[in-house]
Amino acid sequence: MVPTAENPAPASTDTHFDVVVIGGGPGGYASALYGASAGLNVAMIERQRIGGTCLHVGCIPAKELLETAAVHRTVSHAKEFGVLADAPGLDFGVTQDRKQGVIDQLVDGLKGLLKGRKVTVLDGTGRLDADHRTVHVSGGESGDVSITGDAVILAAGSAVRTIPGFDVDGTLVVTSDELLSLRELPERAVVIGGGAIGCEFASMMSDLGTEVTILEALPKILPGVDKDAAQIVERSFKKRGITVETGVQVTGHTPGERGTTVHVDGGEDIETDMVVVSVGRRPFTDLLGLDQTGVSVDDRGFIEVDENCRTSVDGVWAVGDIVPTAQLAHIGFAEGMVAIRDILGEDPQPVDYARLPWCIYCHPEVAFAGYSEEAAKEAGYDVVVSKHRYIGNGRAKIIGDTDGLVKVIAEKGPDGEAGRILGVHMVGPWVTEQLGQAYMAVNWEATVAEAAAFIQPHPTLSENLGETLMALTGRSLH
Ligand code: FAD
Ligand code: NAI
Repeated sequence: MVPTAENPAPASTDTHFDVVVIGGGPGGYASALYGASAGLNVAMIERQRIGGTCLHVGCIPAKELLETAAVHRTVSHAKEFGVLADAPGLDFGVTQDRKQGVIDQLVDGLKGLLKGRKVTVLDGTGRLDADHRTVHVSGGESGDVSITGDAVILAAGSAVRTIPGFDVDGTLVVTSDELLSLRELPERAVVIGGGAIGCEFASMMSDLGTEVTILEALPKILPGVDKDAAQIVERSFKKRGITVETGVQVTGHTPGERGTTVHVDGGEDIETDMVVVSVGRRPFTDLLGLDQTGVSVDDRGFIEVDENCRTSVDGVWAVGDIVPTAQLAHIGFAEGMVAIRDILGEDPQPVDYARLPWCIYCHPEVAFAGYSEEAAKEAGYDVVVSKHRYIGNGRAKIIGDTDGLVKVIAEKGPDGEAGRILGVHMVGPWVTEQLGQAYMAVNWEATVAEAAAFIQPHPTLSENLGETLMALTGRSLH
């Protein structure tokens, strides 16, 4: 596919490209930018807004509102530091304007990058033709055009999922799409689903004065997160006044004069002003025209791919939330790069899905890479575990944020000693910014002795990782 002297590609024209990407979210724009930086002539089609879920109704707006919550929390505790600020008020409209400003700047930057790399951006809905090379574009400012690509990458992303009995009306029942643009927060909110979105929103709203109840169907919130870490989040939420009910089933809601009443199977009704449904996201293949193409889709609607993101059809790749891997922006980036390298014939290193970096930005934050203790045991490992709480860490005391721990899960060697690091799970202050070295240790398959030998600067929060690793070597400082 890369034009060479021996194997010239068809001349690029206004309608023929080396790669055509459908979707302009993280998976799509990463494919386009990385491909263009490798010299490929790329077209990218986007039907709504460049940047996708992540920039407009996902990562960026959610983290921006969580930052408002953090500022509010800091000012609320200012007196403890002798800073005599008034009790903080909230003008959520200003918050929303600031959020939009951040998004606009990032979108402008992204458009600049695409232009700079000469990616042809088409505004409209892309549909793959049965010939697997032609993509029909329609319904947008680019008009009705058909373009062809030597390779096509599908990156149409995902959409919110809802549940029966909770039709989204944008006022009483909302999803992340609507909540992120509210001009005012409700006094009371019931959050259905205690996953990543549920916990981030519950934390944000609670910090900003909303009375929040989380209703989670499973026995614990934050599925996939190590039990000890999830327990700390749940305990911390409860201390802050968030009600967390696990193992519950909701059956529907009845609107009243003020707000609505949520019905819980076998439990008490809950009156609230707003229901936030955060029960996962579904792949959005609706407009790709896959029926005619033979591209295989699994029983949940995800496009099936191999480790190089190839679909069941030659010349067509798929990346991001549309494939059945972790629905994270950085995984979309990584898969986009794998697809491009495969298109270039470079034999890419596939994404190692068992050792991804995960960060959840509720308060306290959660960050992890690799096996949880439970998952490691289930996978048949004999493990050694060490945990260190932030309560003993100097920097955590200085910033007044001591809830949390670092937990290292290591493989037990034949001598009974801790060997290779299998997973690191962190909960506490700024752990999303501390995960980097733990992620590298897990992915470099470092042993605890190797990783513990590195010096952690003092006083930092990352000393807690150093101490946890050192404890596994049988010696310790603090
Ligand atoms: P999307 O971002 O959904 O982009 C797909 C794009 O394709 C869309 O712009 C869509 O309009 C377009 N499209 C669809 N069909 C067509 C078509 N036929 N023709 C043309 N265009 C089409 N992830 C993280 O890593 N960190 C976080 O902190 C984080 N926070 C999140 C918070 C929330 C509230 C939500 C909802 C998600 C969050 N995510 C986070 C997940 C992250 O947003 C997604 O994993 C990421 O956006 C997926 O990228 P994508 O390119 O696959 O899909
Ligand atoms: P999720 O899959 O993380 O969590 C959904 C939760 O809802 C689960 O705990 C599930 O058990 C629960 N649930 C499902 N049906 C239910 C029901 N009927 N009643 C009660 N609970 C129910 O999905 P979520 O939180 O919607 O997020 C979607 C995706 O977005 C995530 O998979 C994640 O990849 C991504 N995301 C990532 C973030 C991050 O990385 N910081 C932040 C927000 C989202």
